[in-house]
Amino acid sequence: MNLPNMLEAKKRDKSEFCIYDYEEIKLDESLVGKKYYVRTYGCQMNEHDGERIKGVLTDEGMIETDNLDEADLIILNTCAIRENAHDKVFGFMGLIKKMKETRPNILMGICGCMAQEESVVKEIMSKYKYVDFIFGTHNLNKMIKVINERIRTGKQNIEVYSVTGDVVENIPEKRDSSISAWVDIILGCDKFCTYCIVPYTRGKQRSRKKEDIINEVLKLKDMGYKEITLLGQNVNAYGKDLYTDYNLANLLRDVSKTGIDRIRFVTSHPWDFTDEMIDAISECDNVMPYVHLPIQSGSNRILKLMGRRYTKEEYLELYNKIRNKIKNVSVTTDIIVGFPGETEEDFEETLDVVNTCKFDGAFTFVFSPRENTPAALLQDNTPIEVKNERLHRLNEIVNNYSNMRNQETVGTIQKCLVTGKSEKDSNKYAGYTENMKLVNIDSDEDITGKIVNVKIDEAKSFSLNGTYIKNI
Ligand code: SAH
Ligand code: SF4
Ligand code: F3S
Repeated sequence: MNLPNMLEAKKRDKSEFCIYDYEEIKLDESLVGKKYYVRTYGCQMNEHDGERIKGVLTDEGMIETDNLDEADLIILNTCAIRENAHDKVFGFMGLIKKMKETRPNILMGICGCMAQEESVVKEIMSKYKYVDFIFGTHNLNKMIKVINERIRTGKQNIEVYSVTGDVVENIPEKRDSSISAWVDIILGCDKFCTYCIVPYTRGKQRSRKKEDIINEVLKLKDMGYKEITLLGQNVNAYGKDLYTDYNLANLLRDVSKTGIDRIRFVTSHPWDFTDEMIDAISECDNVMPYVHLPIQSGSNRILKLMGRRYTKEEYLELYNKIRNKIKNVSVTTDIIVGFPGETEEDFEETLDVVNTCKFDGAFTFVFSPRENTPAALLQDNTPIEVKNERLHRLNEIVNNYSNMRNQETVGTIQKCLVTGKSEKDSNKYAGYTENMKLVNIDSDEDITGKIVNVKIDEAKSFSLNGTYIKNI
């Protein structure tokens, strides 16, 4: 047994990290041929980890099911970013406890970011004895070992490490899409924004080798993928921990040369965004004109308390460069309201920035105190009702600008990558414009997996409606 330790997780040393290949561990015979169910919460990086969990289990002879009732093995790949992410997982665990009353042989495990939290694991050990195993974000490659040990000993098995170091290549994957693929480029985070738990749950910043990334993209292209998204908590820091003269701008140019149709990247921290990177995005045709650039707050006082290391003015300068240099770019952001000590004036500064930037979209959150983070210790006198009311006011403004930006596309022809049937209307297809706007597309033929011309007929705040134009 190995338990997570938040103080250990905070440490960063200068030691180099290791990069090595996945080594297969054979799954216990009793599970071979049986069914597994994986549920993933959280960000795209966690989604991609979910694809690895499924890949390893499938390679070991298990079969995926999306029907919980027929699963023999259930894995919850969790997120810890805000309290409501926790609540969802604990709620779902209750359901599985019920299932176990009638089917006691089901195995249930927890992994992902919540598994890296000391308090969560201690709570599970004392109150949730029906959880069979827990593994962390740093030993996903040893998942089978953890499961096998649970089967062999019959006891709750917890293997979570807080000290990180590694990048494990070639873990089997079972990707959810055959059109658009996630590609990790940098793991962990060293930014330690004061509100954020990610540096504790994902460990130190580690870049993958450029050759490994480019080979993966070439392979995906050969398999017929049309789009890849380069992933990292802060992709703009790519290379800093591995190279002296190779960064995200170089990587974008090299990945562009693979000739894959579409290249995207998330998330960008404003602090590491260089002019060279803006040039690379604007000059490479297959790097898509879309930047997710979280601002978090428009008040310099709050930004400082958040440890974001930029001012409102610096953000605006970068924002304007991106808007001016990258043709047809869309920019979205993340905003936290109700950070400890945020006054009405601070909040109004955030509204001011939103009114200046007129973002294409924004993900907005109420501050949620996270275990062991510095912001959780700050005095916070703002009542939750006031925070919720601020969120509501912010959302109204944010949605107006999304709508405004979307209206500008009505009547234009946009190249869309069609990802499948529309979730809203099964007679339509869903596709994304180059600048990442969701379009519900009318088409008589199956255009799934293609990049097609679409005439935009109508705009709403969160999506567009359009018609497939066959011949142009
Ligand atoms: N690495 C990304 C963010 C990843 S988390 C970046 O720095 O931009 C996604 C978003 O969740 C953050 O941008 C932030 O807006 C929000 N978030 C993170 N921690 C939070 C907390 N404790 N309370 C509320 N929102 C939070
Ligand atoms: Fe969290 Fe900041 Fe790292 Fe983003 S950059 S993951 S907000 S610590
Ligand atoms: Fe959540 Fe972990 Fe991602 S906390 S947002 S799953 S890195």
